[in-house]
Parts: sequence; structure tokens; C-alpha cells
Amino acid sequence: MAPVDPHSFTDSSHPFATHLSLSLYFEFASSTIQGSALLSLPTPHSGYIYLDTRSLTISSVVDPKTLAPLPFSLSPVPDPIKGQNLTVSLSNQSSFLIVFATSPSSSALQWLSSPQTFNKTFPFVYTQCQSIHARSIFPCQDTPAARLCYSARLNVPQQLSAVMSARHVERRPPVSGEAAMACDDALWCAEGRMVDEFTMEQPIPPYLFAFAVGELGFRDVGPRTRVYAESVPAVLDAAAREFLGTEDMIRQGEKLFGPYEWERFDLLVLPPSFPYGGMENPRMVFLTPTVIKGDASGAQVVAHELAHSWTGNLITNKTNEDFWLNEGCTTYAERRIVEAVQGEEIAALNTGIGWRGLNEEMEGFKDNMEFTKLKTKQEGVDPDDIYSQVPYEKGFQFIWRIERQIGRPAFDEFLKKYIATFKFQSIDTETFLNFLKANIPGIEKEIDLVLWTEGTGIPPDAFEPVSNTYAKIVSLAKEFIHGRMPREDEVSDWHGQEWELYLENLPKSVEASQVAALDARYRLAESKNYEVKVAFLQLAISSGCREFFSEVEKTLKEVGRMKYLRPLYTALVQGNGKEEAKILAKRVFGEAHECYHPIAQGVVESILLKHL
Ligand code: BES
Ligand code: ZN
Repeated sequence: MAPVDPHSFTDSSHPFATHLSLSLYFEFASSTIQGSALLSLPTPHSGYIYLDTRSLTISSVVDPKTLAPLPFSLSPVPDPIKGQNLTVSLSNQSSFLIVFATSPSSSALQWLSSPQTFNKTFPFVYTQCQSIHARSIFPCQDTPAARLCYSARLNVPQQLSAVMSARHVERRPPVSGEAAMACDDALWCAEGRMVDEFTMEQPIPPYLFAFAVGELGFRDVGPRTRVYAESVPAVLDAAAREFLGTEDMIRQGEKLFGPYEWERFDLLVLPPSFPYGGMENPRMVFLTPTVIKGDASGAQVVAHELAHSWTGNLITNKTNEDFWLNEGCTTYAERRIVEAVQGEEIAALNTGIGWRGLNEEMEGFKDNMEFTKLKTKQEGVDPDDIYSQVPYEKGFQFIWRIERQIGRPAFDEFLKKYIATFKFQSIDTETFLNFLKANIPGIEKEIDLVLWTEGTGIPPDAFEPVSNTYAKIVSLAKEFIHGRMPREDEVSDWHGQEWELYLENLPKSVEASQVAALDARYRLAESKNYEVKVAFLQLAISSGCREFFSEVEKTLKEVGRMKYLRPLYTALVQGNGKEEAKILAKRVFGEAHECYHPIAQGVVESILLKHL
């Protein structure tokens, strides 16, 4: 008897459920879901089985064949990170049905009222389950070590439709008797309701479970790609234009990493409060609308989420302690796709932005070096609290280091074999290292694998990218310190990424007058590109430039992507003697927090708590 994952109650002596059948009745008026979950085990089991739950009400657990109640109990005091352990007692059952309801504060779900949507006419709800939020939608063994297939019936108001990270089977009126105890049959079959039915036949870790329900429309942009968004023609058209190059990227991905195994690669553009840039939900990637800039630069985020189709979704980290296996390998794969479709210079710029980010992150973790490791210890640690660039960029650097050691052709072959060997499995760092050593004999003599995976900080053989554009931008940024602003002819061909790299290479704070002069010439505070805008506003706040506070406030109120909220709130509350900035942070959070996803609310709250 031992937990298999520091973030889950799942026990090593219990079987993993291999199939889940969900019936979900969506009640927008109360922001809740009434549901039932039928969990199936590979063989009959007697004794306890532990499941993760968070803010769920469990009303009964029954044997699905006899409908006889099965004993269950919920741990009375929720663990602040893991939630509540639901213990079910089985006597030779191979499946059991749990009847439950979510709460309006379920951490995976954001319920948007009509005024919070683009269309302003209908409500909207969507999920974000990574890393440990699936348990706030349904009881499960919420560890990526336990993969399962599922089917789901989503009962929604007829004006709305549902999409999932699964195959859509059909949309039809509700049928009597199919509620599977999720709610009263009369409620399930009430006038004005429709059922969208889905199935996922490939085994996935629970964090890849996803749905969205709203007034949705779509545009086809490729043979296996459809872009979904709220049904607003301007939003759909802009999204369709932005993502026209998707099929080309999928083909490049297949060339590099092997067949695309998920059949469809659809994209869902969410409302601005979506807390991430993108989330690699299988068959349907979720995206922030901030990537639609009209200049096809959303391609990088799509390349990243697409790359997860191989690294992350096919091969999954066993627990969050091996998260770098997901994000580091994916950042490497993302840059290979970007290189193939946009060229080496752009890929090098991205690597350079990542390098800067990694170095900065090291600073931030100076008092907590554990989280500068690739393989980390996360007992008692909330994954949302330690989310950082380290798994992405140090992980990327490690993979890139191996590539440099053995050369690209050999590395490409290794990567394909790695993916083919471990697909649909959840693995840990040791498994990766053993496979590496077995396939590249003697590698441990050339690269200090232990230092890379268990050591803190940036190993000495990490590498800053070499490219003309990259070097020019970094040297221009150095000159800014001595008062030289880049000339117009020097920036005439700069896009978002060049500006981002430039701003990230400036000192943390400069003379307020310099910030104002930079903006007067290049209007960075108003940039449509949020990476640029936020990097500039961060510099403005740290340099004590109060004239940009209204733009900061506007930004914090219009987007909920944590990549922007984190640095802006942090810049506002950090440092001494800047009372006005702290007051602003508190006031804006007070006014804006209801529009943020619960995960983002939690993250901003902890930033404010730490510094105020
Ligand atoms: N899987 C991540 C998002 C994530 C990580 C959600 C951890 C919850 C917990 C996704 O693939 C990602 O990395 N998104 C990035 C995209 C970027 C690297 C191009 C983001 O959101 O910024
Ligand atoms: Zn990722």
C-alpha cells in the first residue's frame, strides 16, 4: 500500500480503472453539473479503492448491475492540494457507478455568464484539467500514471453545443433511461435539452479530459482541422486565417516524429479568460484568443500543442515530478516544427527568448533551488504554484545537448524509436535515461546525465543559440543601457518575437524617462502582440513609470492568461516603497478576479499574499 503519485490518493495495491462512462447534466443557472461516473476495472476487485475528488458532492455509489448501494466514505478534511479521498468498498465488482455533483467553485471549470462572452447572448463553460483538476469534475484516479478510455453524454440546453477532446458520436434529443442516475429522468429529458455524445477510444491520462459548452461555430481549415470558437463571424474568420498553416505543421510533425495517432487535430479558441496560451487536449487543442494577432504568429503556440500529440499525449510523464519529459521534449519538438515551417532564424529567436526566460527563472528560484531541477520532489507542493520555464527550457536544453552530441540524423532516429517504443505509456525520468543509455551506448560518458536531471541550476554545457538576428538584437539591448535606442531602420523588419527578445534582454528596470522615450517612438504599450505589450509594461512598472498604469489595468482586466497576469501582478507588488503600485494590484484584482479562471485566481492570490 503506497501512493503512486504525490498529487493523488491512488494506491499502488489497487487496480487502475481503464474505462469511464460519464453522464453529465449541465445546469447553468447554478453553475453546477449533476453527473454519474461508471468506472470499469480490468478484473473484479474486492476491498477498498481510492479516488481523488475536490469540491464534489457524492450522493451514492452503486453496483451498476444490481443497483445495490456500495459502502463509501469521503475523507472529512480536504487536503489543501489533493482534495478529498473517496474510498469505495468493493466486493468482487469490476465496475461501480458514482453519483455526484460539482460545485460552482470546481477548480477545473470556468462558468462564464452571457455578458462575459463575445456574443453576450449565451453562457459558456470550459475545463482546464492539467495538472490536478480533473478530480473537481468527476471522481477518478487523477494521476497521469493511470490512463483510461472514456465515453460521455453531455446534456445541455438546446441553444448550446458541446465539444470534447474526444470523437463526437452524435447530437440528439435525450432518451429516457440513459441518465444513469446523474439526475432525475424527467430533468434529463426535459423540453429544450439536447445530448452531445462522445467517445475516446485511446487511453489518456485524466489531465487530458476536456470539454467546452457554449454557442459554438466552426470553420474548416484543413483536411483534419476545424477551428471552433464562439459563433461570432469576425472571431471565426480571424481564427481561420490565423491557423491556415496547421496541416503543413502536422505533416512536418509526422515526418519528424512518426504518424499522427489522434485522427483529428481541431482547435478551440476560448474566451480571453483562458488561463494558458494553449492546452494540448487530444483531438482538440484549447487556445487563448490572444494568439490571434492577424500575423500568423499564433503558429508557435499551435506548433507547441501539436508537438504534444507525440511528446506528452502519446508518451506521458508518470507524475508531475517528471513534468519536464512532457514540456522539455515538447519545446524541442515545437522548435523543430517551427524550424521546418518558418526557418532556422525564427526557431533560433524562440530558443533565444527561452534562454533568457530560463536564466531569469533561475534568479527567481534562488531561495528554492529544488525547482531548478528537471526531476523534482513535489510532495506537499501544488503544481500550479511551481509552474515555471524550468521544465520547458532546461528540458529543451537537455534534449538539444543530446542532439548536439550525437548529431541530428542519429538523434532523429532515436526520437522516432523513443516515441514508437513508449506510445500510450506514462513513463518517468529513469525510464527515459535507461532508454537513452541503451540506444546511445556510452552517452553517459559524454554528457553528465545525473547533473542534467538531478542537479540544480543551468549546467555548464547548456547553450545560447547562435544566429545573426539573435546576436544583433541582444547587442542592441545592451546598448540601451548606455542610452542608445534602436533606430527605425534597425527595427523596420521586427515582428513580435524580435521585440519580445529585445525587451527581455533589457535590464529589469531603467530610467523612467528612457521607458517613456522608447514608447513614444515605438508605441509598445499599445502593441496588439501581448508578449510585447506585457514585456514592455513589466519594464514600465519596475522602472516606476506611473503613466502606464492605466494600460496595465486595462490589460489585467481584458485577459486571464497567467503568462501575462503573473509578471504584471508580480511587478506591481514587488519591491519596497511603491505603495501606489501595490494598491493598484489589490484594487484591480478585486475588480477583475471574477473574470479569471479559478486556477488563475488562485495563482494571483498567492502572488498578492506573498508580497502584501
Ligand atoms: N500543457 C501546457 C499548459 C499547462 C501546463 C497547463 C501545466 C497546466 C499545467 C501547454 O502545452 C503549454 O505549455 N502552453 C504554453 C504554450 C507555449 C509554451 C507556446 C502556454 O500556455 O504558454
Ligand atoms: Zn506544453
